[in-house]
Amino acid sequence: MNHGENNSRTINLLYVVIAGLVILIVSLVVAVWATPRVFPQQASAEAQRVDGLFQVLLFIGGAVFFLVEGLLLYSVIRFRRKPGDEGDGIPVHGNKMLEWVWTAIPAITVAFLSIISYNVWTQNQAVRENENIVNGLPVEIVVTGARFNWSFTYNTALETPDGEPIVLRSNVLHVYQGQNVHLQIESNDVNHAFWVPALRLKQDALPGYTTDLRFEPILPGEYPIVCAELCGVGHGNMRSLLIVHPDEETYLSAFFDPAVDFILNPPDDPALLGASIIQTYACQGCHTLDTLGWTGTTGPILNGIGDRAGTQVAGYTAEEYIVESIRLPQSFLVTGYGPVMPQFTHEQMDSEQLQAVVAYLCTQTNTGESACDMENLAAITVESDG
Ligand code: CUA
Repeated sequence: MNHGENNSRTINLLYVVIAGLVILIVSLVVAVWATPRVFPQQASAEAQRVDGLFQVLLFIGGAVFFLVEGLLLYSVIRFRRKPGDEGDGIPVHGNKMLEWVWTAIPAITVAFLSIISYNVWTQNQAVRENENIVNGLPVEIVVTGARFNWSFTYNTALETPDGEPIVLRSNVLHVYQGQNVHLQIESNDVNHAFWVPALRLKQDALPGYTTDLRFEPILPGEYPIVCAELCGVGHGNMRSLLIVHPDEETYLSAFFDPAVDFILNPPDDPALLGASIIQTYACQGCHTLDTLGWTGTTGPILNGIGDRAGTQVAGYTAEEYIVESIRLPQSFLVTGYGPVMPQFTHEQMDSEQLQAVVAYLCTQTNTGESACDMENLAAITVESDG
């Protein structure tokens, strides 16, 4: 071994170290600096944990990618066949040390990733203390997926003066910053998936089964809720909104208290009541109704429904037609629309709510006059409870 050979080895080693450092720095920059700029905001503590895990994965994956691709490029250039060289390559028969190393490194890496993934998973699923507390009392929040909307039911611990439990409904999900939220997710028909990208959480909604989802909102704002399981023609429209209020007081004044008050002191005019109730059912996922700003396209257009309802099916008055269209939507299909509307049984919409909703739809006429006989409406909605 002479002096020149020794020198070139030192230089080679230097190149390897520099290349290794460059790979690590580029991977680190991609993982730590670039990723948060591509992702939606982190609206929950769970999102921070998931993103932290993702960044570790991306860092390791990036380093492996740049190493493998870098060596590949280097080899392509460095060991290119010289002109006139027709000989075979050098025969190589295994290298025990190398095999040990390339088995041990991935094994240790995968074991490490399993442990940190499991840690994030258990933290995100953990049952919290004081879940869904509003005004010192727990509220049960049920998320219902149906083709093609999400609706949210809040079973409060409050009661009306008659001793009836107060149940709030909304087509957007209201929570407040710092609340320990626990959702019980159900489906009325097929499999859906409740996905909130800003929370980095996704949970299946399965018929006949209740799944759980827990999170702690940390950033006030409005975030899209998406259905992430192909569930039919309206799947792409099956969207809703998560509203994170900045604190419990805002949550109470902007959503909870008015909703409770609405149940304790409903307006006398049934059509006015119905206008409010129908908006808690997320019908806008499928229907168009200009007066409420709905733009859904999966179901029939409801503009002017009062004018048409009495002439759609022979023998059915306007109120009978609309009641049956809600209770048993497959009875009458409007030309051009498939049998996709879920049945609204008494469990989902009781006779009082149904009466108000139909009373409201009956006022969707050219003149604004109701197309319904209110006495008959009162009678058939009670009858529709079966
Ligand atoms: Cu519900 Cu896709």
